[in-house]
Amino acid sequence: MLEGRKVILGVTGGIAAYKAAELVSRLRAERAAVKVVLTRAAQEFIQPLTMRVLAENEVYTGLFEGSEPLPHVRLAAEADLVVIYPATANLVGQAAWGLASDLLTTLLLTFQGPVVICPAMNAQMYNSTAVQENLRRLKERGYIVVPPETGRLACGEVGPGRLPAPEIVLEVIRGALVPKDLTGLTFLVTAGPTREPLDPVRYITNRSSGKMGYAVARAARDRGARVVLISGPTALPEPHGVAFIRVDTALAMREEVRKNFDAADVVVMCAAVSDYRPKEVHPEKMKKGAAEMAVTFVQNPDILAELGTLKRHQLLVGFAAESGSVLERAREKLRAKQVDLIVANDVRQEGAGFEADTNIVWLVFRDGRFLELPRMDKYLVAQRLLDAVLGLWKGGYGE
Ligand code: CTP
Repeated sequence: MLEGRKVILGVTGGIAAYKAAELVSRLRAERAAVKVVLTRAAQEFIQPLTMRVLAENEVYTGLFEGSEPLPHVRLAAEADLVVIYPATANLVGQAAWGLASDLLTTLLLTFQGPVVICPAMNAQMYNSTAVQENLRRLKERGYIVVPPETGRLACGEVGPGRLPAPEIVLEVIRGALVPKDLTGLTFLVTAGPTREPLDPVRYITNRSSGKMGYAVARAARDRGARVVLISGPTALPEPHGVAFIRVDTALAMREEVRKNFDAADVVVMCAAVSDYRPKEVHPEKMKKGAAEMAVTFVQNPDILAELGTLKRHQLLVGFAAESGSVLERAREKLRAKQVDLIVANDVRQEGAGFEADTNIVWLVFRDGRFLELPRMDKYLVAQRLLDAVLGLWKGGYGE
């Protein structure tokens, strides 16, 4: 995803500066080219040598130091993105007011591309009017501000100010660097399992974790789409920047999908909707008694198939979790439910399906063509799916 992208990592002098070493490693693992700029105060917390080894690249410590004086213009011209991790209150203030007192602040004035800034400081400092006003100025100017987490801070206080983990910032970086080619489109995405109650304490559900659907929602958001995510119960955090609707049962999911269908351009039905629900929902908790019991189920509506009959301009994407004859069954579903694209996987394969972070899928098109993708992270699967959707949307057959 970040292969070959040129990232400048600015590190300022906060106690969380050590986490920047991990961010460099993570960026390198995704094959980004990283150049690190350390402020004078940052060097009190972390050695340039650490960063030089991890980044496998030169580290910049000042405007007049090293073999190349005044490197800010060249560095800014070369980079695709600047991330400041962590950003002290001082850096936030200087950036907000356009001051150029060292290499990093000077570079910010020369750089034209996306800037991701991750403030981390004492909670009172963070909440102060001055810092909040400065952050607002930066946001208005288009800076991507990653808010700090709330928790125990180095000073012993509890409050907002903790630097978010490298993987959170990595996701923001990925999002900032993908093309905004879905701008103007509205995506309706469903995710997770549904829960079908038997009584007030028991329900029938399935093993869906929601990871694939959430990845589709995040990827579409990153590419500029407006996203409505309708999610069954999952343990995943609500993704930022999407309209989020939580539901429980298949019937509730159907209702929300139908409400949002007209405004949607693309619907991605990733949810593992329960095909059946208990016929009777006991109003009181069922008591233990007989040695055997039977539950009668009734069929739930097939939300995707219904959309297939209702669709006008919408492009429909379905998922098919199979355990054999994957392509044939996916093609049957494609026809039966009148969808435009099926993402099929074989749930028996290692590294595919439910709780995994990766997936192995086939994208199966209406014209009979299919594309087999290797095992990859669900976010990257989502990106490939969106490439295909965009291709179809433009009238061709995308890959
Ligand atoms: N789906 C749906 N409503 C249902 C069941 C499924 O909208 N009641 C959608 C899923 O979100 C998915 C697709 O239909 O996009 C395929 O679901 P899957 O469970 O694989 O197939 P089914 O159609 O339920 O068929 P079967 O379980 O017999 O394989």
